[in-house]
Amino acid sequence: MDRTPSTEPVERIPERGLPREELLGRLEAMRSGDADWKGGRVFSLVYTAGDEHLETLKRASELYFSENGLNPMAFQSLRRMESDVVRMATELLHGPPTTVGTLTSGGTESILLAVKTARDRARRKRPWIRRPEIVLPETAHVAFDKAAHYFGLKIRFAPLKSDWRVDVDAYRKLINRNTVLLVASAPQYPHGVIDPISEIAAIARKKRLPFHVDACVGGFILPWLEQLGHPLPLWDFRVAGVTSISADLHKYGFAAKGASVLLHVDMEHMKDQFFISTDWSGGVYAGPSVTGTRPGGPIAAAWATMMALGKEGYLHHARRTLDAAKRLHAGLAAIDGLEVMGPPDATIVTWRTVDPQLSTFAVADVLKTRGWHIDRQHRPDSVHLTVMSHHQEVVDDYLRDVREAVAHVRAHPELKGSGEAAMYGVMAKVPVRGMVKKAVLQVMQQMYSPGGAAPDLSGGGGGALDEAVAKYAPRALELLDKVEGWRTKVGLAPRGRR
Ligand SMILES: Cc1ncc(COP(=O)(O)O)c(C=O)c1O
Repeated sequence: MDRTPSTEPVERIPERGLPREELLGRLEAMRSGDADWKGGRVFSLVYTAGDEHLETLKRASELYFSENGLNPMAFQSLRRMESDVVRMATELLHGPPTTVGTLTSGGTESILLAVKTARDRARRKRPWIRRPEIVLPETAHVAFDKAAHYFGLKIRFAPLKSDWRVDVDAYRKLINRNTVLLVASAPQYPHGVIDPISEIAAIARKKRLPFHVDACVGGFILPWLEQLGHPLPLWDFRVAGVTSISADLHKYGFAAKGASVLLHVDMEHMKDQFFISTDWSGGVYAGPSVTGTRPGGPIAAAWATMMALGKEGYLHHARRTLDAAKRLHAGLAAIDGLEVMGPPDATIVTWRTVDPQLSTFAVADVLKTRGWHIDRQHRPDSVHLTVMSHHQEVVDDYLRDVREAVAHVRAHPELKGSGEAAMYGVMAKVPVRGMVKKAVLQVMQQMYSPGGAAPDLSGGGGGALDEAVAKYAPRALELLDKVEGWRTKVGLAPRGRR
């Protein structure tokens, strides 16, 4: 009899529950096809400080597995831990003694709340604003688009300079009487560079506007890099004018997933974050977060992480991470036809091909066949690496594989127009973005339809764009390149997200 655990989709709740061993066997079998992050071949999604730390996290989460931070009166220890984490983060980010904040479920929730707080502050202080606006660098995280979409704000995107940092003069010109929030990143996710925080803070002070620094990815690594002597500009609460900061514990803070902090310079800037209802038949309801139920596990694990690693532990990982990032940077920059974008300020390394004989996405396709999980970016096409300390062990393998992948694509120029390179290449260049959006919506609908599975992005998924790519990719890419060149010449090429 075949004892291999089933990985077939399930259609019905089983009449009788499965025995625990069988159940766990099935879970193991299902995850066997997932990305192998422990081997260091994934450069995002999972942040780790090693197996021993993972065990501590599991134990801490388990202790608070069932508790709910929704009611801090019932679970006072969770409120206490939240307050401890906020204070430790305040110390790290040089907040003044007035600093206040909350734990959230992640970067996106911290950003949603920062935007909602600024909108409601403006409603209180400048009630005549009908359509509130926020000003962002083009590279700011897409969670701000989500926040604007959910909460009815308009976004004004500021273009970048050639070093991928936002152009402050252009940024300043986008501020108007409807602006309720200024935003910049430390660092931004796509290329790992820090926006000119001090210059934007000076504008914020002059215009008396709140200024949010998104340090979701940087908040728990930049301070340690600074202490290690890595040259960095000031970006945190030491910069007067910064009124709030988001920093994710579940990224370089090495906590369990579901933990970020949102800090405000004082309660006057935080008070619009709270939601309070006094009339619901379920009773008076008040909370600081988007979510209702707040799982106790991630709060306990966040607290346990900071206490378990201590400054020494964080510095240890920061040192190793910086070393890995520097070696990757130097190694990639030395490959003929490749460019590292930046130079990066933190431990994110992003590269692209700059030789017309090559294609970033075709090189990425070859790397994928060698077992690397690839983060593709566009505008311009590039490959993103969020480096962590355990990547130290794979730096040489990665560099060797990139070198060989580059040589392979040079020898096989037809690869530019096939596989995922073609799909992503066309998606990135189609000037009518509505068409791309429609294609992506089709993919999402497929994925979430009854029995839907992960889509095949190498073409042929069924959508109109997909089919066009599968049939005409090499020609389409050539044509789109020409169109892009022409649009750039006449100043029509899209400069940003909108
Ligand atoms: C700069 C930045 N902000 C916000 C986020 C969103 O964080 P999350 O995925 O935890 O919601 C990320 C995620 O990578 C990020 O890099």
